Amino acid sequence: MAGIRWPPEDSELHQTRVPTTADLISDDDRSVAADSWSIKSDYGSTLDDDQRHVDASDALSAGTFRAASDCSSDKEAPDAEVEPSVLGLQSYWDATYADELANFHEHGHAGEVWFGADVMDIVSSWTKNLCTNASQDNMQNLSNDAGCKPEADEHSAAVLSTWNVLDIGTGNGLLLQEFAKQGFSDLTGTDYSEGAIDLARGLAERDGFTNINFMVDDILETKLERQFRLVMDKGTFDAIGLHPDGHIKRIMYWDSVSKLVAPGGILVITSCNSTKDELVQEVDTFNQRKLAASQDPETSKNQEGCRDSPPSFRYLNHVRSYPTFMFGGSEGSRVATVAFVRS
Ligand SMILES: C[S@@+](CC[C@H](N)C(=O)[O-])C[C@H]1O[C@@H](n2cnc3c(N)ncnc32)[C@H](O)[C@@H]1O
Repeated sequence: MAGIRWPPEDSELHQTRVPTTADLISDDDRSVAADSWSIKSDYGSTLDDDQRHVDASDALSAGTFRAASDCSSDKEAPDAEVEPSVLGLQSYWDATYADELANFHEHGHAGEVWFGADVMDIVSSWTKNLCTNASQDNMQNLSNDAGCKPEADEHSAAVLSTWNVLDIGTGNGLLLQEFAKQGFSDLTGTDYSEGAIDLARGLAERDGFTNINFMVDDILETKLERQFRLVMDKGTFDAIGLHPDGHIKRIMYWDSVSKLVAPGGILVITSCNSTKDELVQEVDTFNQRKLAASQDPETSKNQEGCRDSPPSFRYLNHVRSYPTFMFGGSEGSRVATVAFVRS
């Protein structure tokens, strides 16, 4: 559901309407001008960015790419286009984290825990089990091949240390602190807002998690060259979809993320704007687009010598323990967490 925002520790199921870019227009024309400028400056200023927009626009015209707007149920019917919101703009996040950083320095506050602390706990423990089971399955296969059984206690810390983790749009980085508590040790968090990274570093240092790496990086034009066995996204895909060019940004998102997840690695998305089925559908659309591009003589001509099959994602599992509620005759939950394996 677009814009459901759970304040920290807020257990009441209440809904807050998120400000949209239309609200900005009615509030103050000057802020519109500033924000329009900020969109251009954040996303559209370099040749590479322009090229990425062209690529994404081409992909859009080649197929449908639906933006979700309601996470209340697993609906059959497509949603209308999601309404853009200030949450899609970097200027919004820069201002938010400037406030949160000041609050941290003055009062020691950690800032917003998106979707609440319960969801963060569930996501971290559920993902730990997912990784442990995936490693166990691999070892089982290996030991079956070799004709021996793995020791029962060969897992936990040693196993989790083989999972390098990237949290995109990490915000205050608290999710990675939870992952460190679960036993993961190779942890990186990125965010395009410098204020977020300053806050995440400050909190990690204060809380004794000095081994977590944080860096400023825009997922849509990432500078990261490393691949990760586990990529986490809690609320970032949602924010990107709320940009006025959200439908294009989402295509850019999948292209970028598919390069960051290592083959055989796992992507875990937690969203309040897309249901589980909508996320699965987005992934299917991405897979089809990549396959079509690899079979297109024009596109493949530019990738001569590259015989690998295109990256794709396969649904692996989703969190089933979130509280559900009835809305419009359908049952749904306010947040979805879905894991995909990269081919
Ligand atoms: C809803 S907040 C979630 C923050 C954090 N993941 C959490 O769960 O607390 C969305 C985050 O995505 C970041 N973000 C949005 N677009 C981004 C982009 N293109 N690249 C990197 N970070 C982005 C924002 O700065 C913000 O920190």
